[in-house]
Amino acid sequence: MEIKRVCALYFSGTSNTEKTVAAFAETVAEQLGVPWERLPFTKPAERERDYVFADTDLVVVGTPTYAGKLPNKILPNLKARLHGNGALGAAIVTFGNRSYDNALAELCAVLEGDGFHTVAGGAFVGRHAFTDKLAEDRPDWDDRKELKKFATAIADKVKNLTENPAPVTVPGDPEAPYYIPKGADGEPAKFLKAKPLTDLSRCTNCGACARLCP
Ligand SMILES: Cc1cc2nc3c(=O)[nH]c(=O)nc-3n(C[C@H](O)[C@H](O)[C@H](O)COP(=O)(O)O)c2cc1C
Repeated sequence: MEIKRVCALYFSGTSNTEKTVAAFAETVAEQLGVPWERLPFTKPAERERDYVFADTDLVVVGTPTYAGKLPNKILPNLKARLHGNGALGAAIVTFGNRSYDNALAELCAVLEGDGFHTVAGGAFVGRHAFTDKLAEDRPDWDDRKELKKFATAIADKVKNLTENPAPVTVPGDPEAPYYIPKGADGEPAKFLKAKPLTDLSRCTNCGACARLCP
């Protein structure tokens, strides 16, 4: 199979997934001797356009794990906006060192549904978006080495493909429900509906939050 381009497409609120997907895509592209490009899928305008690929593309798609699955608000965009058209797909999820539970299985299923042939699936630890008490210094040196090794192995797999690969099998159940953690009171905490609280008395209208936050 002839791959002419590698794309790194990611939803990434706090940049772990962006860095992981970009590092993976760069290594694969280097090994295949083809160019690679970033396709950020984070801000609303980036998620409201279509991405149409060809069977000469290898598209690395990455999202964080939210409550053990794909981010609930991003899932409809991933299903509607990505058009694989027979491109190879590599599924990457990041997680904050609790567990990626069913996120990777869900992403693989979504990519197959979008018309990609999945060729790789990987889950990588990054600092937890909620707190610096979980996975604070991740990815560390060993994580980066492991990522590079994995990307090199996938490039070798792609080089040796003579036909479309069978869908990759990864741990997890794409149909499983969201993980529901317990709050400090021991009751289930449905944090996927959480919204930031703003102290408007301290707001200077600088607009920095609106520019940065996806
Ligand atoms: C709403 C929310 C839910 C999360 N749920 C999980 C989880 O179930 N398991 C886990 O290990 N990490 C969880 N995390 C941590 C993120 O998956 C992790 O920090 C990820 O690398 C963030 O990626 P990003 O920097 O690209 O946004 C959650 C983070 C957020 C914001």
